[in-house]
Amino acid sequence: MSDYWRNKKVLITGINGFVGGNLAKSLLEHGAEVFGLVRNENKRTFLYHEKLDAKIRIFLGDLCDKELFGRIISEEQINSIFHLAAQVEVGVGMSNPFLTFETNVRGTYSLLEACRLFPSTLESIVIASSDKAYGSYPVERMPYKEDYPLLPQYPYDTSKACGDLIAQSYANDVYNLPIIVTRFCNIYGPGQLNFSAVVPDGFRSALGYSKFVPRSDGSMTRDFLHVDDVSDLYLTMGEGLAKNPTIAGEIFNAGPNEPVSVKDVLKLIFSLANNQKDFDEISKLMENKKTTGEIDYQSMDFDKVNKHFGWSPKIGLKDGLKITLDWFADYLQKQKG
Ligand SMILES: NC(=O)c1ccc[n+]([C@@H]2O[C@H](COP(=O)([O-])OP(=O)(O)OC[C@H]3O[C@@H](n4cnc5c(N)ncnc54)[C@H](O)[C@@H]3O)[C@@H](O)[C@H]2O)c1
Repeated sequence: MSDYWRNKKVLITGINGFVGGNLAKSLLEHGAEVFGLVRNENKRTFLYHEKLDAKIRIFLGDLCDKELFGRIISEEQINSIFHLAAQVEVGVGMSNPFLTFETNVRGTYSLLEACRLFPSTLESIVIASSDKAYGSYPVERMPYKEDYPLLPQYPYDTSKACGDLIAQSYANDVYNLPIIVTRFCNIYGPGQLNFSAVVPDGFRSALGYSKFVPRSDGSMTRDFLHVDDVSDLYLTMGEGLAKNPTIAGEIFNAGPNEPVSVKDVLKLIFSLANNQKDFDEISKLMENKKTTGEIDYQSMDFDKVNKHFGWSPKIGLKDGLKITLDWFADYLQKQKG
């Protein structure tokens, strides 16, 4: 990678979350000056566990505070923004759609309004949408393609689709903002502390810190990207957009196009943790268990990002899960002590 990021001023919303913390680490390694919006001072996160908080500038505030964004962008002369903050829990989306829409929709246009008002230093704005924005498509139409219409059914999925379309509308030829939108598959890796997601929940229970309670029969199928691949892709995209603003308004999917069932992911997790006994029990509990409110089958390829940026994923699922196991073993041990 070039030295494009050296001394660039980068704002990450959601920096105290999973992807945001990992991206901050990578940007710091590339010499960027990193700023982050943080809603509360939760210190049991990747950012604090990796002691990155001392190396960045933190602003406390809410995503819907467009005046705060205006101040940060204009006073700090921000060059690049990665918008990652969101209410990401599918279950919370079901129980609290209002919060989910406020955060993921209003939060997105609050940030974009500030970008519209203070665009002069901005070279790239990357908005995280999600594969969930596509909604359900028949298996024969997988992997999703960027030109598929967005057909979300559930609140989280709809909130991401709304933020996604709103972001595209700010990349128009009147505002000329350098925006691209990403729709990635499931991301996993060190620092994912949303324990309603299968990988962290799986590791926590495979390592003996909790009991895994299956929500489904495990047949739901997804693609999984390691967070280091995601950070690498975000850096590549931000630099690519800054150097070639004609790609503003483009959408980019990314996933390995190697879909795996939730049950097979759990099997791998429990086998890496040498815990076959608990997996056998979970397997039994999964039989005939039905879930609602989630898409059955999703997969993503990387054709378009590869064509534009020459990017492809480098970390296979088994290797990525091994790295993740080591991180969770250390993190959970330290949290206990
Ligand atoms: N993790 C995945 O599998 C995945 C896959 C595709 C897309 N995405 C998208 O990537 C982004 C990052 O996901 P993540 O897994 O890191 O999520 P995360 O929950 O770990 O991080 C999100 C962060 O946003 C913050 N936040 C929520 N509401 C806020 C508010 N009102 N004001 C300020 N901050 C607020 C949270 O405190 C949290 O730190 C999200 O936009 C998500 O939709 C994630």
